[in-house]
Amino acid sequence: MLEIEFHDREKEIQEIMRILNSRPNLITFVYGPINSGKSSLMCKIAEELGKNYVVFYVDLRERFVKNYDDFIRVLFKVHRSKVKDYKAFLAKVLEGFNFEGLPIPKNLLIELLKSSDVEDFFEYVITVFETVREKRKTPILILDELQVIGDLKINDLLIYRLFNLFVSITKKRHLAHVFAITSDSLFIERVYSEAMLHGRCRYLLIDDFDYNTTKEFLEKYNFSQEEIDLTWNYFGGKPVYLVEAVKNKDRLKEFCEESLEDRFNFILYRVNALKRENPDLFEKVLTLFKAFENEDKTECYEIGDEVIWTVKNNILFLDPRKRLLRPQSRLDLLAVRKIVEKVTAIK
Ligand SMILES: Nc1ncnc2c1ncn2[C@@H]1O[C@H](COP(=O)(O)OP(=O)(O)OP(=O)(O)O)[C@@H](O)[C@H]1O
Ligand SMILES: [Mg+2]
Repeated sequence: MLEIEFHDREKEIQEIMRILNSRPNLITFVYGPINSGKSSLMCKIAEELGKNYVVFYVDLRERFVKNYDDFIRVLFKVHRSKVKDYKAFLAKVLEGFNFEGLPIPKNLLIELLKSSDVEDFFEYVITVFETVREKRKTPILILDELQVIGDLKINDLLIYRLFNLFVSITKKRHLAHVFAITSDSLFIERVYSEAMLHGRCRYLLIDDFDYNTTKEFLEKYNFSQEEIDLTWNYFGGKPVYLVEAVKNKDRLKEFCEESLEDRFNFILYRVNALKRENPDLFEKVLTLFKAFENEDKTECYEIGDEVIWTVKNNILFLDPRKRLLRPQSRLDLLAVRKIVEKVTAIK
């Protein structure tokens, strides 16, 4: 079977290592278009860190999180043991630990869930990190797909309580590094305009590969210049598609055309449904799509309904820091152009 190895990201790895080698201070929001390789990059870095780090990795998309209990159960990895001395428990389980949710004994989890006070949980999280520190190691908390709990409420919005916890463990106590990953650009926009996070976080854009990185990647799998150009023309530097292109090298042209057809059909069905349900919004979406007839990005100063609709449907990506809107991938750009052509022809 063809093994695809992790490619490049040297600059990004360097930047993250620079963060990890300094005292925890700011929360890092890792964002970027869909399937750009955010999770792969963070996992790759985490796997290769030496014994001086302890990584707590929580993927909020792994399970269906619809309420507070679900969130807690994803955040923590339950240990069956019945424990009285939590510090002793942590000192033991944190030995040889890596890459799971935060360890918690079942009896404490049940007790804390009963009290249903999120602050009790957060106090325990701090104890976990302090125990790691006592071992002279650096804790790292990675929360993947944080937007999943963006609207979850316990009295008030859980996400704000969580942001407070993050600020406490980074800027206030310098206890642990915190990375929050998201592919939801509306969520990042919300974070970006959140007053309580000003001066307390940084943003790291993990984008699709640029042309040279894409070329180097494809050359590893013996792509000719012509095959590289074809692949770049359809998929740009979107890693997930490049991997598939390698697998379909012997039928590349067909694969490219099929992929575009699939993407075009998906968007066409979505806009046709919108036309029936909300003709006004449909017109606005179409006008927005037209901005991409000759450009591959457009400026965005206001987040209107058409922006929300296209971003929510994973067609466009919004980078609030650059105030730019662009299709999620080169394939989406081509599909959007085809949609404009088709709809204009019908009119
Ligand atoms: N640096 C890389 N080298 C090789 N392949 C990669 C690389 N980055 C990503 N990929 C490929 O792209 C796929 C998607 O990457 P990944 O899931 O990390 O993206 P993501 O940005 O986290 O996606 P999502 O937006 O869905 O969270 C991976 O399964 C892998 O096959
Ligand atoms: Mg991901």
